[in-house]
Amino acid sequence: MSSLAVFGAGYAGLVTAAGFAELGHSVAIRDIDSEKIEALRALRAPFHEPGLDELLERNRQRLTFTLDAAEALSGAQFVFVCVGTPATYSGDADLSAVWTVLDELGEAGRDAVLVMKSTVPVGTGEKLRAGLDARGLDHVGYVACPEFLAEGSAVRDFLRPDRVVIGSFRNADGDRVEALHAGLDAPVVRTDVASAEMIKLAANAFLGTRISFINEIANVCELVGADVEQVAHGMGLDKRIGTRYLNAGIGFGGSCFPKDISFLKLLAGNSGYHFQLLNAVIEVNELQKRRLVSKLQKHLGSLRGKSIALLGLAFKPNTDDLREAPSIVLASRLLAEGADVRAWDPVADASSVLRGITFSDSALEAVRGADAAVIVTEWDELRDFARQEIRDAMRNPLVVDGRNLLDPVETAKAGFAYEGMGRPTSHFGGLPETEEPELPSEELPEPTP
Ligand code: UGA
Repeated sequence: MSSLAVFGAGYAGLVTAAGFAELGHSVAIRDIDSEKIEALRALRAPFHEPGLDELLERNRQRLTFTLDAAEALSGAQFVFVCVGTPATYSGDADLSAVWTVLDELGEAGRDAVLVMKSTVPVGTGEKLRAGLDARGLDHVGYVACPEFLAEGSAVRDFLRPDRVVIGSFRNADGDRVEALHAGLDAPVVRTDVASAEMIKLAANAFLGTRISFINEIANVCELVGADVEQVAHGMGLDKRIGTRYLNAGIGFGGSCFPKDISFLKLLAGNSGYHFQLLNAVIEVNELQKRRLVSKLQKHLGSLRGKSIALLGLAFKPNTDDLREAPSIVLASRLLAEGADVRAWDPVADASSVLRGITFSDSALEAVRGADAAVIVTEWDELRDFARQEIRDAMRNPLVVDGRNLLDPVETAKAGFAYEGMGRPTSHFGGLPETEEPELPSEELPEPTP
């Protein structure tokens, strides 16, 4: 069993650390945020990730948490870099946290391998290799081992990955990192460093492209009277296409897709290539969030003074992450249109990100007196949204379903007007039949002979 140091206790770092501890390795996690380290010492994950608390608890004997780089590095055979690489103003990757790790490596053991998990532009490994050599650390190996963990399912993704990608300059370093993954049942893809870096960016960009593609198909479906859900199902059963990442909606968010697609576009541009397709992917995604505003206007006219309930704020379900969440753009657009915005999310706390909106403790409270409810995140808690209690609470029972979560027919039957993304729309046709007043018989039209 090996000793690992993991730098960075964010989503990727913490799940990677807990996952390797589960495989039997001993792992020291180092972060510069003292509150985070305190929480972790009490075995509390500093964010919502299903299964992570249990994984930390189960492996507590093999995990240590520290603010001190030297302490984490002492005896470490592998140093995992899991620090953030946010976008700079120019949209390029800010690699300063990665370079700081290199500066702290003085204490690294003679046989240590630096393993890059953070998402970096292609060519970064080459520069970091040179940086290691310049610091007299030529004995430290370098391996690119990109992470493919999706938030909300990160623990499962670590323990049952589709593949493990290992890019190395020296085979021996790659062999050692491959051996570290023993116990995981997954194909291992061995590559050079630049290709491993590109696999990560290309995979995220391709998934984002699929989403923008199906969103454009949805937009056309609306114009020609087709249902994108049926279209995606029929397309996806073709094994060459596959069904995943074909859910039409209000577009992708999160800390990865928007940033990585922009990294790849700029990387191509900086290398002299105009990556046209990615421009469209980004633009479609941007406009998609705003389509919800037009949908609301179609039903309600001006939104000034209208009460709109946003249901779900996180960029996707099972996470409290609000980074690049479509809800933020949507809420700002609605406020700019003069709407009175209320919001509810089961776990995400947006009070420091979104100003000028009212937060509710339940979906029911958020929709009370509302002119429309917008499903922004497909939380399981919203699956039975179309019920009488909700309809009775709303001033106008209109649901704009930004994630195609609800069944349009059932929702209409329950007395709501329904508008999804790329699906047939139903208009509110009055209260259900049983409650309709009966017409006096003399007012019934004469039967035609
Ligand atoms: C993504 C990748 O899926 C991971 O493999 C990768 O490791 C990670 O980025 C990363 O680079 O760190 P994540 O951002 O956590 O993971 O979330 P996804 O589940 O991929 O969803 C991204 C966005 O796409 C969400 O806003 C989601 O709502 C949206 N989406 C996803 C759709 O709009 N339609 C779909 O069919 C699928």
